[in-house]
Amino acid sequence: MNAGDLVDEAVKTLKASPAIDHWQRDRELIEAEDLLGHAIGTEDFDRDTEVSPGARRRFERMIERRAKGEPVQLIKGYAIFRGLEVLARPGVFVPRDSTEFLAEQAVRRVRRRRQPVLVDVATGGGGIALAVVNEVRRARVYGTDISPEAIRVARANARKLRLPATFVVGDLFGGLPKHLRGGVDVVTLHPPYVARSELRELPEEIRRWEPAHTLTDRSPDGLRIVERSTTEAPAWLRPGGWLLIEVSPDRARAVRSVLQRTGFRDVRSTMDRGFKVTRVLVGRSP
Ligand SMILES: C[S@@+](CC[C@H](N)C(=O)[O-])C[C@H]1O[C@@H](n2cnc3c(N)ncnc32)[C@H](O)[C@@H]1O
Repeated sequence: MNAGDLVDEAVKTLKASPAIDHWQRDRELIEAEDLLGHAIGTEDFDRDTEVSPGARRRFERMIERRAKGEPVQLIKGYAIFRGLEVLARPGVFVPRDSTEFLAEQAVRRVRRRRQPVLVDVATGGGGIALAVVNEVRRARVYGTDISPEAIRVARANARKLRLPATFVVGDLFGGLPKHLRGGVDVVTLHPPYVARSELRELPEEIRRWEPAHTLTDRSPDGLRIVERSTTEAPAWLRPGGWLLIEVSPDRARAVRSVLQRTGFRDVRSTMDRGFKVTRVLVGRSP
């Protein structure tokens, strides 16, 4: 069978799947081609490429898994985050393309400093911290997460990519070395922000495959971790240092108010022009 026919079949299966959120045009086609490339072992194929029986079997098994809602990155075992191949493992939040904008905002600010220090709170598999140090080699970067599993994956990513980063287990800033207090230039945060009652409304592919603690802090408005972070961050940031928080557009206004209430200055809501699914709220420490 050729690649074109296989992709057409797979697109039909994925489009019919109730476990997938069909929010983006051509999403199924993009994913089918991505998985076929993974099964063949190269992205360099066209519709006429003959697919071996082994690769076809691998591809069909992957499409079956995807049709049950499993994210493509978990099926492949990795995600590409700002050009870095980072591990994607069950139990750890899958890094999203939309979060690359948060990393970009951090890189922009870290670049301006001579000896920059960045802390990525709720780091998951460490993608943001690793992207920053990859792009600004003189930066010292730290990542912290309450999940020991996430920190294991983040450390494995750092080793695999040969990037210097320190990852620690802890509740928000709790596990960080004390000498960082007052000297951090940028704090990034992509928190769990789904309100407790909204958890069950999430698409199945998120609800079933992402652990609940990565999605929600179980507070009624989903903002407990944001509020705690804005209260705790000023003790770690240098005066004028930046706190950058990624949330969904419907949370942007509330997070902006939290930052202003806590005394942050120059508070703004920024948006990736290509990717409109998230906002990054930025503010300078009092
Ligand atoms: C939405 S995920 C973001 C992961 C990663 N930063 C990313 O963008 O791919 C939220 C992360 O917050 C972590 N988390 C939840 N509660 C936390 C807490 N109290 N302190 C630190 N991390 C926490 C979860 O384990 C999860 O890795």
